[in-house]
Parts: sequence; structure tokens; C-alpha cells
Amino acid sequence: MNKRAPIGIFDSGYGGLTVFEEVQNALPEYDYLYFGDNARAPYGNRSFDVVYEFTLEAVKFLFDQGCPLVVLACNTASAKALRTIQQNDLPKLGQDKRVLGVIRPSTEEIGSLSKSRHVGVLGTSGTVQSQSYLIELKKFAPDIHVSQHACPMWVPLIENEKHHHTAGVQFIEEDVQALLKKDPLIDTIILACTHYPVIKEKIRQIAGKHINVVSQGPIVADKLEQYLRAHPEMDEKLSKNAQREFYSSESSEVFDEKAARFLGYPIQSKHHSF
Ligand code: DGL
Repeated sequence: MNKRAPIGIFDSGYGGLTVFEEVQNALPEYDYLYFGDNARAPYGNRSFDVVYEFTLEAVKFLFDQGCPLVVLACNTASAKALRTIQQNDLPKLGQDKRVLGVIRPSTEEIGSLSKSRHVGVLGTSGTVQSQSYLIELKKFAPDIHVSQHACPMWVPLIENEKHHHTAGVQFIEEDVQALLKKDPLIDTIILACTHYPVIKEKIRQIAGKHINVVSQGPIVADKLEQYLRAHPEMDEKLSKNAQREFYSSESSEVFDEKAARFLGYPIQSKHHSF
């Protein structure tokens, strides 16, 4: 197939790159177009209306670029915008297009990961306030006891690379301990923000070896593979030339430098502003 029809991957900033990386490793033959709204990140403390408005703009941009399928690789956007976009906007934007999120795939899996049936969720204030994890987990694993804790400092720390600094580590320690204090029986922590895998090792050290710290990237990649197998009509539309394109609402120089640190290899992005 020659027509450009990449899988769109969206995040407020760099965090979605942790999902992109897992997805492209699992499905390397597909084309991908990543968009990071870095100029307007973080989304975590923004209102429902603003997250919805920004996310819808990003989805429209990715559709305009030819993506038939968009993955919101951002929990905040998945929590605050996905449902409205799916229900109200998709019928107008194109019946044959799809937008998927990261919360449902994660909550479908969590039940199989915890032995104690006590799970901790770490996310942005927006994700925690939306209660999306509690609502979704009730459907897929109703016996699981869920405790949530918001970490509003983590995304700015990671985006500004201050997570190694003493003050940064202190914030991380305080937040992990605050979660574990809410429920000492937690044996599984889900990193419900796509930025957090960057500090996974630190979280693991603080939480202790008995706690399974789970990133969403591999889960989302696995579920996307299953989705494409179950939806050949979508799979047939997607172009498979192994091309990767990156766009950011920040300047390309800034995005490229930081994205390379997230990915471990250099990239060249293009700029898009709204
Ligand atoms: N990666 C986004 C998430 O998963 C970060 C949100 C933000 O911009 O605050 O929630």
C-alpha cells in the first residue's frame, strides 16, 4: 500500500514516546505519526474543558495528516476527552476513523497482575480526579481494592529533567510513600501516566521488591495488536512502510533534543502549532 495512512499517537508532551516505543517494537511494519503538544503541556492540572479542547485539536490534526486510527497515549486525555470525542465528535469527523485510549487496556490487564487484590494507581491530578481507573476497574476486576495518589510534580520534573536532582527524588519518595501508606497491602502499582516509566526504576527502589511496578506501554502495544487482528477493516487502511514522523507544538530543536533522551536515539521532528 502506498497511500500514507499512519497510526497517530498523541500525548501532551514526551510521555507518549514511552508508549510509541513499545507499540513500534511490537508492530514495526506500520507507519506512525507522533504528535506531542509540548507547548501546552502539562495537561495534568487543566480542566476537563481545556483538556478536551486541546485533545480534539490534536485528533483533528492527526486525522488531517491521514491517520485513520489515533491512540491517545496520555492518561489525562484518555480520562478527560476520549469518551466525548468517541461519542460526539467521531460521528462528525468520520465514521470510519477511530480513537483509542490507554486506560481501558490497562484496566483490562490489572486484574491478572495482583495477587493481594490491592492495587495502587499513580497519575496526574486530572487522571486521579476523573476516577477513570476506579470506574473501569470495577468493570473488569470488581474484587480489586484500588488506592490512587496524584503526583502533580512528576510530569514537570521529568519534562525538565529534574527527576535525578535531590529535590526531585524527594518528591518521588514522598508520593510513592503516600500511596503505600493509604494501603500497605498493595502489591501492584500501575503507572497511570505515560511519563512515569522514565522514573520506573526509582519508583521500584522506593516501593520495594515485593511490589510490581507496571508501565502501560507493553500492555497498550499488546492490546493494539489484538485490536488490529480483530478489526481487519481498520488494519487494511493502515499503511505499512515502517515510516516514523514526529510533530510537536514546541520548536523542533527543543523537541528533538528531549525526545532523543526519551527514546535513546535521535529523531527529526516538524513543528505544528494551532
Ligand atoms: N503523559 C500524560 C499522561 O499520561 C501526562 C499528562 C500531563 O501533561 O500532565 O497523563
